[in-house]
Amino acid sequence: MILLNNAEVELQKEYMNKVKELNTKKLKYYILTMGCQLNENDSEKLCGMLEEMNYEKTEDINLADFIIMNTCCVRENAEEKLFGKLGEYKKIKEKNNAIIAIGGCMMQEKHIIEKLNKSYPYVDIIFGTHTLHKLPEDIYKILNKQKKVQDILDIDGEVFEGLPIKRNDDKKASVTIMYGCNNFCTYCIVPYVRGRERSRKPEDILKEIKQLADEGYKEITLLGQNVNSYNGGIVNGKEYNFANLLRDVNDIDGIEIIRFVSPHPKDFKADVIQAIKGCKKVSRILHLPLQSGSTAVLKKMNRKYTKEQFIELAEKIKKEIPEVVFSTDIIVGFPEETEEDFEDTLDVVRKVNFEQIFMFIYSRRVGTPADRMENQIPEEIKHERFDRLKALFEQQIEENNKKYIGTVQTVLIEGKSKNNENTLTARTSTNKVVILDGDESLIGKLVDVKIVSQHVWFLKGRIQK
Ligand code: 5AD
Ligand code: SF4
Repeated sequence: MILLNNAEVELQKEYMNKVKELNTKKLKYYILTMGCQLNENDSEKLCGMLEEMNYEKTEDINLADFIIMNTCCVRENAEEKLFGKLGEYKKIKEKNNAIIAIGGCMMQEKHIIEKLNKSYPYVDIIFGTHTLHKLPEDIYKILNKQKKVQDILDIDGEVFEGLPIKRNDDKKASVTIMYGCNNFCTYCIVPYVRGRERSRKPEDILKEIKQLADEGYKEITLLGQNVNSYNGGIVNGKEYNFANLLRDVNDIDGIEIIRFVSPHPKDFKADVIQAIKGCKKVSRILHLPLQSGSTAVLKKMNRKYTKEQFIELAEKIKKEIPEVVFSTDIIVGFPEETEEDFEDTLDVVRKVNFEQIFMFIYSRRVGTPADRMENQIPEEIKHERFDRLKALFEQQIEENNKKYIGTVQTVLIEGKSKNNENTLTARTSTNKVVILDGDESLIGKLVDVKIVSQHVWFLKGRIQK
């Protein structure tokens, strides 16, 4: 298995060299990434490979010789976006003789591939979630006049190590620790398009993070569809579950902030809570995806916890680590959701008092059990509930922000503010944006700031002398 994996990576490196030789001058690539942080991280790998092959990034699609889109299929609007964009890409292809490549989650869906093949024949390369590493080979084939490459695997992919990577940021980095998901929440397409859970080896993860620390990275986000079911096996007699992995990452010098997304409440066991408690670098905002506050809906969603168990879990974590706050994901308008069910969701929101809520309107996904359920909720009811949840949340943000005023927070200075060149933007451990006056030389550093005021979407702070 390991040899095969290495051999495949070596083979792709050979293709990278071959393509590089064919691309005698620097060419430009344009990349569009949809969806979650895992996709962003996959795109960093795609960019890493492209840059090895003499392509350089452009933000201006009109200049592109190579257009690549990394797709997502978690919610509906991404589909409209893909097909909308393809018309634009066709024009660039005709003008610049550009190559068009489309990859990622949506390519694992049969109905999408059928539509692409039927109505968008000019797409050159189509690859799925398990064949991303083969981009060099795919490009080589196209450059050698193969008309079209379609490389999609239905089986679970392997974990490939040692591919080049071009990171988007020089202070914060994401590190994927596991791929796939075994949970089959009934609304979710992910288990069908990303396959079963596969964990990376702890030694590979730790090596990558140590290297990032050496390069000056301060903040690491550990990524996976279900990070707290990470299973890295036993190394030197030590069992690498998520708790032990966190402890080892926490010991890496230079890394100051550790985040992780997304955990599943059902796997938030006592050892994970203890690890977070003991690891001071782990961010004090924890993501605890609720999805719904109604026990009946949660059962239909196959979430494996009740309303009460969720609230108890939040209370238990808060008791162990009082400075913790929570963020969450909520879906409104799941099939059969009644007014009472929705009230239960609002009730949990009031009780847990989330600092951040990612709100989603339920979107039917072909092939998932929820799509086949009767009593789908009418659009206007979904939107009305969404607006009510949003109003409650906005009210809570202001209340929560007020608690920060007068406190001293250690923040990572991320850069100049987008809206005002003369101020700096930073983030607290709990992921709040803080705007402050200060010198550019502070960028990338951790500093103590006193919070002086709140402005709903950000806080203002003053550097502590
Ligand atoms: N409709 C709406 N939201 C969804 N999510 C996943 N699938 C769907 C769907 N079909 C949301 C969940 C998940 C987040 C990443 O996306 O809240 O936690
Ligand atoms: Fe989807 Fe549920 Fe897996 Fe998250 S845990 S990726 S929501 S199936």
